[in-house]
Amino acid sequence: MKFDTPADTNPIDQEKVVAQPHPRIEGPLKVTGQATYAAEYHEPRNTAYGFVRGSGIGHGKITRIDVGRAEAAPGVLLVLTHHNTPWTTLESPVPQQYEHSPHLVSEEVNYYGEAVAFVVAETFEQARHAASLIEVEYQAGEADFVLEDVMAQGKPSPDSPDSEVGDFEQAFKEASVKVDVTYTTPDQSQMPMEPHASLAEWQGEQLTLYTSNQMVHWVRRGLSKTFHMPQQDIRIVSRYVGGGFGSKLNFYADAVLSIYAARKLGRPVKTVLHRPLIPNHTTHRPATIQRLRLAADREGHLLAVGHDSYSGNLPGGDGENASDQTKLLYAGPNRLIRTRVSELHLPPGGSMRAPGEAVGLLALECAMDELAEKLKLDPVELRIRNDIQHDPEKGPKRPYSSRKLVKALREGAKAFGWEKRQATPAQVREGEWLIGMGMASAFRKNLVQPSGARVRLERGGKLTVETQMTDIGTGSYTILGQVAAEMLGLRLEDVTVKLGDSDFPKASGSGGSFGANSSTTGLYYACEELRQVISGQFGYDPRTTEFKNGEVWSGNHCTLLAKAASQGAVEAEGNVTWGDLSEKFVQASFGAHFAEVAVNAYTGETRVRRLLSAVTAGRILNPVTARSQCLGGMTMGVGAALMEELHVDERFGLFINHDLAEYHVPVHADIPQLDVLFLDELDDKSSPLKAKGIGELGICGVGAAVANAVYNASGVRIRDYPLTLDKVL
Ligand code: MOS
Repeated sequence: MKFDTPADTNPIDQEKVVAQPHPRIEGPLKVTGQATYAAEYHEPRNTAYGFVRGSGIGHGKITRIDVGRAEAAPGVLLVLTHHNTPWTTLESPVPQQYEHSPHLVSEEVNYYGEAVAFVVAETFEQARHAASLIEVEYQAGEADFVLEDVMAQGKPSPDSPDSEVGDFEQAFKEASVKVDVTYTTPDQSQMPMEPHASLAEWQGEQLTLYTSNQMVHWVRRGLSKTFHMPQQDIRIVSRYVGGGFGSKLNFYADAVLSIYAARKLGRPVKTVLHRPLIPNHTTHRPATIQRLRLAADREGHLLAVGHDSYSGNLPGGDGENASDQTKLLYAGPNRLIRTRVSELHLPPGGSMRAPGEAVGLLALECAMDELAEKLKLDPVELRIRNDIQHDPEKGPKRPYSSRKLVKALREGAKAFGWEKRQATPAQVREGEWLIGMGMASAFRKNLVQPSGARVRLERGGKLTVETQMTDIGTGSYTILGQVAAEMLGLRLEDVTVKLGDSDFPKASGSGGSFGANSSTTGLYYACEELRQVISGQFGYDPRTTEFKNGEVWSGNHCTLLAKAASQGAVEAEGNVTWGDLSEKFVQASFGAHFAEVAVNAYTGETRVRRLLSAVTAGRILNPVTARSQCLGGMTMGVGAALMEELHVDERFGLFINHDLAEYHVPVHADIPQLDVLFLDELDDKSSPLKAKGIGELGICGVGAAVANAVYNASGVRIRDYPLTLDKVL
């Protein structure tokens, strides 16, 4: 079904089950160890274990590789190098994300952590030991590892065209109040708790891959290209994912080399990427350098909006599109917004939670704070004065589908007690602690993807939902169950949800905040289809039939829903494709973040004391799981502001702090009680659910709110993230 007309009232609007605060239905399985993650499939028993040996240089050639000692080591079954894999140098040397992704292709090395060998042994320890015995010599080539050195050669990003409106340079030159500031953000790692893991098993020509991945259909398509085999011969199973944050949109050597080795050995092969390979072999969020030029009239109306963002990636890779939100967030007649990407030989850059906005807002929302100070205007008020209800570039003919940023700013400020903030920095002191408040807007574009589902009413009146959609800890199981229950007039307990299996109908998967809205819409249409089938079976007019309390009603006639399946299960499938509503209307979720921090006057240490996010994201499908997404995003935002940073070893192009001891993320002691305030909103142009994406909204802007609070507390404006204590002092 194509969704191209704003939805009238529909069964979801009852909100009997949807929008109710149900805890996660799969939660008990997770906390009792019964949810099986990719590396936890222990059958069949003859599984062999793979280990990836990563490159020791960033760019160059392997001149000698000797696997003799490894092959002779105890338990070793197979050692793969570029000498004995099926791919040739004619094939793409740098893995293309989501597509043809061979490994061990040639002697060329494209990044540190690229696979140079793969060992399979009877146990994981034997494989790891043998991998350490492989002797590799390299000839290092010319390489760039530092963004600053190559930013001038940056090329326009294909996904982020330049925005040029009016005469930016002239307007900026003539304006009376302006800021011209450059912010930097470092490389960041998604660092999921669950490492990337795959178990490959062949039965004849049929491959089953148990893997930890956000996008079942992308892996299936990519593997079909990598191995030149039909998609129907590949089954992907990804039922539970212990954190992805974008790094599990793609698939890596654990999947590809396990599959090839399993084929060669005639045994299942399981590979877990060891922790240092997570930043150095999978994707990470590329560093950015962002120059913001903002100019306003004396009343604080923006006259010129300029944002130049630079990042780097391997040749052919996309950059971090960190200036995109600046095209849409605020008014202003003269605009110059550009994104550039340069070639760097660091490990591959890719999507990390809210790619673009998460770091773009770290810069834009601090520059807005700097402008507010120059204007002597409250930062909340500056944002309100520059609210706009349509695409600032395309004009009023392209309005927002819904936008309640001003409401979020006002209600958030009120709930937080923003009026107590001292506009002049470094005025509030409690003993050795300097106290400050900061705020920022939140913005994340609302994306959608085609998505399908199957529903089956079983004998006894229980309903089963099946879809390839994944649950990466976000609550997909629960909200899909809620939607199906609402549509068929059942209780959530009457619905079983099965996810993450390519045997089920193709679905959106989890990424880009599109998963909840897209996958529930596909399911909505599947349920509509089933309602039609059941109405027909009972001789009812489907347009007026109601499904409630386990019963089906048509006028005064009523039949038990379970009766529809008395002769056997009834089943229906549905899917959604998307019309042009996202072209006709700008679609985005909004919010306002407020932070209170304490900065130690002697050590420069920053403690976050309070955070509040006021959020507008259409219908909140489940306030418990949605809140949890916001809390996770806010926590990651605190990490981005204060501690997260991959350090580049500039000799070899690796990230040296490649584990959870050295890559600092917030722990419980770093995070106080957080508050989330959901504002009422229904967006009928977004989907029949009237919801918008929320999974990544929480991280968007919150780090800037923290940074602005650090400035307000201490009077020190730091423009290089993260704001570690050495920079505060
Ligand atoms: Mo997201 S960064 O598309 O998982």
